[in-house]
Amino acid sequence: MEQTFAIIKPDAVERNLIGKVLERIEAEGFRIISMKRVLLTIPIAEGFYHVHKERPFFKDLTKSMCGGPVVLLVLEKEGAIKAWRKLMGATNPAEADEGTLRKEFAVSLEKNSVHGSDAPETAVFEISYFFSQTEIIP
Ligand code: CMP
Repeated sequence: MEQTFAIIKPDAVERNLIGKVLERIEAEGFRIISMKRVLLTIPIAEGFYHVHKERPFFKDLTKSMCGGPVVLLVLEKEGAIKAWRKLMGATNPAEADEGTLRKEFAVSLEKNSVHGSDAPETAVFEISYFFSQTEIIP
């Protein structure tokens, strides 16, 4: 079993889409093995997205991630990392396939509703950035 990390972003939480996203996650056979709803601070968001710190969108991205509560999730499934990225769809919702969460819910590249780890090392970093081992109950 593989674990991945997911965020339901402020734009989706604000539009009351938590339940709809969780429903899709469970319907696709993921187990939600940890979950919390929190308001990020700028330093926490900057640390989380540190790989993007030289990118022109870094400031807007970190600010928007602190604009309202987010839902943080640890998901488990065989091949969870790839499966979650497939369910999310392309980062830019304009390029997202039919049936993906971003096609259905996202409004723009920044307000793209969900986040997911892109590789095993990223998943380990991202899960441990927000969750302690005792909070993860497989
Ligand atoms: P996410 O999967 O959370 O990873 C980084 C985020 O930066 C991405 O989703 C987008 O919401 C945001 N972003 C804004 N502009 C860009 C861009 N030009 N390329 C990639 N990501 C971008």
